[in-house]
Amino acid sequence: MSWSEPMRRALALAERGRYGTSPNPMVGAVVLDASGAVVGEGAHLRCGGPHAEVAALSAAGALAAGGTLVVTLEPCVHHGRTPPCVDLVLASGVARVVIGARDPNPVVDGRGVAILRQAGVEVVEGVEDEACRVLIRRFSHWMRTGLPEVTLKMAMTLDGKLAARGGRSRWITSESSRREGYALREEFDALLVGVGTVLADDPRLLRHLGLAEDPHLRRIVLDSGLRTPETATLFHTMPEDVTVFHLEGATAERRRALGDAGATLVEVGDDGTGRCDLRQVLRWLGSHQVSSLLVEGGGEVHWSFLREGLAQRLHAFVAPLILGGREAVHAVGGVGFASPQEAVRVRFGELRRLEDDLVLVGEIGGV
Ligand SMILES: NC(=O)c1ccc[n+]([C@@H]2O[C@H](COP(=O)([O-])OP(=O)(O)OC[C@H]3O[C@@H](n4cnc5c(N)ncnc54)[C@H](OP(=O)(O)O)[C@@H]3O)[C@@H](O)[C@H]2O)c1
Repeated sequence: MSWSEPMRRALALAERGRYGTSPNPMVGAVVLDASGAVVGEGAHLRCGGPHAEVAALSAAGALAAGGTLVVTLEPCVHHGRTPPCVDLVLASGVARVVIGARDPNPVVDGRGVAILRQAGVEVVEGVEDEACRVLIRRFSHWMRTGLPEVTLKMAMTLDGKLAARGGRSRWITSESSRREGYALREEFDALLVGVGTVLADDPRLLRHLGLAEDPHLRRIVLDSGLRTPETATLFHTMPEDVTVFHLEGATAERRRALGDAGATLVEVGDDGTGRCDLRQVLRWLGSHQVSSLLVEGGGEVHWSFLREGLAQRLHAFVAPLILGGREAVHAVGGVGFASPQEAVRVRFGELRRLEDDLVLVGEIGGV
């Protein structure tokens, strides 16, 4: 029997958790009885909630005995927010487990497979493995590096400008592009901007669409000298979600003002150019359950992430507009690289048209 079809169904089920499972991975599962009929389906829907295989096996009940569990991710073996899934899989009496990807969490990675095999359960691995690995991409990166996976989101003109001369950027892209940009906020653990964007746009940076289980979104500002005004609109709603990274030199008065506004202040070291060290910022975020980070500009911040090799993905909206202007804000600022050989390369995975805009989604550094 080909296990691809039920695995593809499990992958589709996993999508139901897109807005709720983080920092846990999305997982889907299907249970087939001994004759190959589907008798249970499940997905991991929210962090702390039942895992996909638990949901699918409980839907199948006694019909699972002697059947097959098809699951996108290796069953866990440890007590996390919920008990180990392998125990439940064994108790269900399934004869076979088909797994898409191994769990990159070092406390699991292969141990789930080993326990099942030792107990006499047949384990089939690597079914639709590429799609199953893509599904848990952010989680894998976070587990492997301890840092969130970073996506740069840019809304720009055809000539690569984020804003017009003078700083006005509302609106460069179409309503549909802005909506897609807002949808990204619903699935990332945190959103980051530079203080330049706060000063120019005074944004709210909230979740607007109500797709995510959790209305809270960690909002991060890079602000070496704490220039963010305590009256900024950022602090009008859920100020407890705002974290401002700064350097040692920030005055006690500014620290007090932003602390009183509700922000968490985190001091980091200098990156060698007088700005916040991004590795330290990402390490802090990674250790605070942030597995995915959406960077929404501006140009200086994009440059720092690219220069340091700390961004993995790009999601660009390109409007059919030409703004021109030496002084206009570029999608990527900084001093720039000295030759095309040094340039950061993006491997496009997706090229789409949205109203009159182009949407380009790709992997940074991919060859
Ligand atoms: N179209 C869009 O999608 C979009 C999105 C965002 C912004 N924008 C536009 O972009 C403009 C702002 O962009 P911008 O390039 O001027 O400013 P920015 O990138 O938002 O902020 C840059 C500032 O952040 C601080 N910072 C701290 N650590 C940093 C680090 N490691 N790397 C980089 N910056 C760091 C620095 O100020 P300190 O040295 O004081 O810390 C730096 O000047 C605005 O006009 C806004 O409208 C457009």
